[in-house]
Amino acid sequence: MSRHPVLHRHADLADASRALADWVATRLRSALERQERASVALPGGSTPGPFLAALAKQDLPWKRITLLPTDERFVPADHPRSNERMMRAALEPALRAGAEWLSFASVEPGLSPEAFAQQLADQVARLLPLDVVVCGMGEDGHIASLFPGEPQARLDPNVPCIVPAFPIGLEPRISLSAMALREAGEAALLFSGKEKSTVFVEAVRLGDKPVTLLLAKRRRLHVFFAERT
Ligand code: 6PG
Repeated sequence: MSRHPVLHRHADLADASRALADWVATRLRSALERQERASVALPGGSTPGPFLAALAKQDLPWKRITLLPTDERFVPADHPRSNERMMRAALEPALRAGAEWLSFASVEPGLSPEAFAQQLADQVARLLPLDVVVCGMGEDGHIASLFPGEPQARLDPNVPCIVPAFPIGLEPRISLSAMALREAGEAALLFSGKEKSTVFVEAVRLGDKPVTLLLAKRRRLHVFFAERT
């Protein structure tokens, strides 16, 4: 039986973003007390910009930290829809301080999402289990690029840690697998808006959406949310 999530309700997204940045920094510091390096997977999309900027301002030994996205759109890193473009801009102070960035952006023209996912899986495998993952959530209950009803959203230990995904009506995606997200040492979720609050509560009640992959037995999911954006 998965453990109940810890809900952190905030007045607005700016507040929730600052609180989440503190929460992530605390978890990274405790991981670095136990080991030489620590890793954190971070969300793309339109919600996390203020959180990423607040995290990058944290006083952390960035040279010992690896940053990676939870998922990426299969587009060049300078494309307007690229998560990397948005994330690197927000995380710039941490990258300048020496944090490692593990890119999910394919640089080889003509390489298929499937082939690129296999290549990337080898690089990500050395980081597992991830120390901290932070996900956003879509109004359909998807996290990273694990969409409802898609095979990628199933927990399967035989699936590599990186999967290609082909959401209908969107560009192909490269995503951390369900297992890689579930097995992380610490997990948090960030969203805003009434609609997403309702979707989350229903998903936890019914267990029918990819977001519930973040619920685990070993640790509790921390949910940072604000009804006002
Ligand atoms: C992406 C994300 C995705 C995102 C949700 C929520 O590539 O879009 O990683 O999983 O977190 O779609 O997106 P918004 O924050 O834009 O609502």
